[in-house]
Amino acid sequence: MLLDATLAYLHFLCIIALVSLILAEAALLRPALIAQSGRWLARLDIGVAIAAVAVLSSGLSRAVWGAKGWGYYAHNPVFHAKIGVFVLVALLSIMPTLQFIRWAKAFRRDPAYMVPAAELKRARRYVMIELHLLVLLPLFGVMMARDLHF
Ligand code: HEM
Repeated sequence: MLLDATLAYLHFLCIIALVSLILAEAALLRPALIAQSGRWLARLDIGVAIAAVAVLSSGLSRAVWGAKGWGYYAHNPVFHAKIGVFVLVALLSIMPTLQFIRWAKAFRRDPAYMVPAAELKRARRYVMIELHLLVLLPLFGVMMARDLHF
């Protein structure tokens, strides 16, 4: 039981880190802040990537070494839906990531660089869609914990 509790705790820590970092990105993707934040969003985004890998690793560890064992999750549609939404969020994060890298390069070339409003709006839209999709993951988590199915 100690291993299961430890993995659950680590999963929650990783989730808190990931959601906090994505929320920070959303908060910084504003016209009033982008002249400053646009320089280092790419670095913040590295933290998002590390936290995402940690959430995935802790989630898979729970499935493999947790109290229920892999057999419970291998054919569990809720578990598959959870991984599916997580992968969709990861794919959606590619566009903002590439945008942040382009902005960082532009600011290095020209410290007075101005982020185009259309690029800012699009990057923010993707990050907000990610956040709305992430809301589904704890729902799938509590369903699995209580053996609820679709
Ligand atoms: C941001 C992404 C995620 C969030 C917010 C999230 C949320 C949660 C929550 C709240 C629980 C606990 C439910 C409870 O005990 O009542 C949970 C459990 C779990 N999560 Fe996640 N999770 C995420 C990603 C993942 C991923 C990517 C995986 C697998 C690869 C995963 C696998 C699991 C497993 C196996 C459990 C244990 C369920 C059980 O008790 O049977 N999670 N998750």
